[in-house]
Amino acid sequence: MKQDGRQFDSHGRLRHFLTIEGLPRQTILDILDTAESFIAMGEREIKKVPLLRGKTVVNLFFESSTRTRTTFEIAAKRLSADVININPSLSSTAKGETLLDTVRNLEAMHTDLFVVRHASSGAAYLIAGHVSEHVHIINAGDGRHAHPTQAMLDMFTIRRHKGPFENLRVAIVGDVLHSRVARSEIHALTTLGAAEVRVIAPKTLLPTAVEKLGVHPFTDMRAGLADVDVIMMLRLQRERMTGALIPSEQEYFNLYGLTAEKRAYAKPDVIVMHPGPMNRGLEIDSAVADGPNSVILPQVTNGIAVRMAIMALIMGGTPAAEARRAP
Ligand code: NCD
Repeated sequence: MKQDGRQFDSHGRLRHFLTIEGLPRQTILDILDTAESFIAMGEREIKKVPLLRGKTVVNLFFESSTRTRTTFEIAAKRLSADVININPSLSSTAKGETLLDTVRNLEAMHTDLFVVRHASSGAAYLIAGHVSEHVHIINAGDGRHAHPTQAMLDMFTIRRHKGPFENLRVAIVGDVLHSRVARSEIHALTTLGAAEVRVIAPKTLLPTAVEKLGVHPFTDMRAGLADVDVIMMLRLQRERMTGALIPSEQEYFNLYGLTAEKRAYAKPDVIVMHPGPMNRGLEIDSAVADGPNSVILPQVTNGIAVRMAIMALIMGGTPAAEARRAP
């Protein structure tokens, strides 16, 4: 597979983490293996390694976030980096400064890594194209385009609970049209060789020609859930909807909300995932969200180890074995 020149440096090393699309399978596996070694560390009394000591990480979140921003902060701190959180609505951006000027000023303070979330697709790419060579960028969600670290933590969670991807049938359910999470999950699952990837949604919430991404579309939820090993629910992105794409919230829940009755169409040991924030009673029923098949909170915990792995790999070039040896 052709390597994305924007993510790799001239020596073929991963420099930025912007998208899963085009990422070699081995790179994805290296991240998962490295994260595995950081999981044990999170359970130790002293949850720190010195891999990024002396490095400065800036969390630049132009869109709101709880899980992603916090887990990036914890991950960077566990690697011994110094972390600054910038809230652009309280900073100079609110006074009219451009995105690139904000970044240039923070770069002048010797930032080593920017973790960027932005409502515009391509924002992290724009920044990656303008920073100097030693600076790294991680995309923490850009518009509808990509959310690659969410996809990685979800792949990690799936592998831990269900084993090899080749045996797995996965259904992604809900607002696929507006979801950067869905796009990144689809690229990750197809690269890892999942047996089948399905998307389930009303026609109005499916991108046109979605089959071209290598997935099987379903508009009937019960048919789509039949015999799946993994259900990935998506939030209805009402803030990104311009027209009326769903008939009513009640009808959406009746047709596409995950209830115990619908979950029973999947395999009995199916795992249920949601990237959060979830709308209980709209896309998922509390009985399922809090039920025995749910891995929604483990997803959050795993996000720390996976984000540590990604930061360690792009900044230190740390292969899995070296991370495992870290004190
Ligand atoms: C997702 C996001 O922001 O893209 N959430 C997350 O990062 N945990 C999904 C969403 O907002 O629906």
